[in-house]
Amino acid sequence: MTEETQLIKEQTDVNKGPVAAIEGLSARGLHVGSYKRRMKVSLDRMYENALDWEHLPHLHNSSFSWIELIESGDWGWRAKVGLGPNNGGDNRDNFIELQLHLDRERHRWISSTLEGSGKGSEIWTHAFEVGDGEIEILADFFVPNIPADKKAQMGAYYEALYAQLYDEDESMMSERQLQLDARPKSHKALSSRQITLGTSASIRAKLPFTFHFDAAEFRLVEDRGELVAHATVCPHSLGPLTNSEVVGGIIECPWHAYKFDIRSGLCQTGQQCKLRKAPSITIDQHANIVATRE
Ligand code: FES
Ligand SMILES: [Fe+2]
Repeated sequence: MTEETQLIKEQTDVNKGPVAAIEGLSARGLHVGSYKRRMKVSLDRMYENALDWEHLPHLHNSSFSWIELIESGDWGWRAKVGLGPNNGGDNRDNFIELQLHLDRERHRWISSTLEGSGKGSEIWTHAFEVGDGEIEILADFFVPNIPADKKAQMGAYYEALYAQLYDEDESMMSERQLQLDARPKSHKALSSRQITLGTSASIRAKLPFTFHFDAAEFRLVEDRGELVAHATVCPHSLGPLTNSEVVGGIIECPWHAYKFDIRSGLCQTGQQCKLRKAPSITIDQHANIVATRE
């Protein structure tokens, strides 16, 4: 037994369940490699991320091109997932049917390829808390019909893919935790009604310009000749809008590609969420840019 499976055995304390199953898959010669990583995120963020099917073609846009949900629930999800980079094209042919099954009790989720390339593959990921707000994950890759001399190559492919996916996931989970921690514990009465951002010339030279107002962050942009402020945190799952380009008054969140009208805050992709109301922007008689809460 490897050090890793020993860890799984000790920490899950399930003598019949996961270890037996993993050993069974390994004994059948399906194990091609593993990926282990420590991350400064909580188990809650990790489970939330595993259940979040919607982010695949957006946060992981170099690996997945589209996703079409078949079913989902507290147990996990099943979806058709387009393979290859999401470059705005519509390649509907190259896809797999993927199922993710979450088992919180055993600290693991199993991603199974039900149809398409690699059909029958399973990725078993175990996640354990190893410190305050820190976890270790261990993913084991099981792929059928791989000749013995090709296993190392296949294992290396999965390890590189997982390193990339977890770089992206870790940044998302950490950013979301930061935003959750930054949320005010109580809603005090809003104080500042108006602030001066600076002279028009100096601020225009710095556009897009980020500022704080009423304990929230906003970004001032120029859209079709007009100065407009918009919230920099996405109302869906608190994704960052700070670096998203505004095109024709619309901003797109990088995590799940929800789009918002920066003036009205309304979601343009049909979801029931709205940008936090931004202060209105005017220029006073001294040529200063002023942000005002109405
Ligand atoms: S966080 Fe999901 S679309 Fe922005
Ligand atoms: Fe992910």
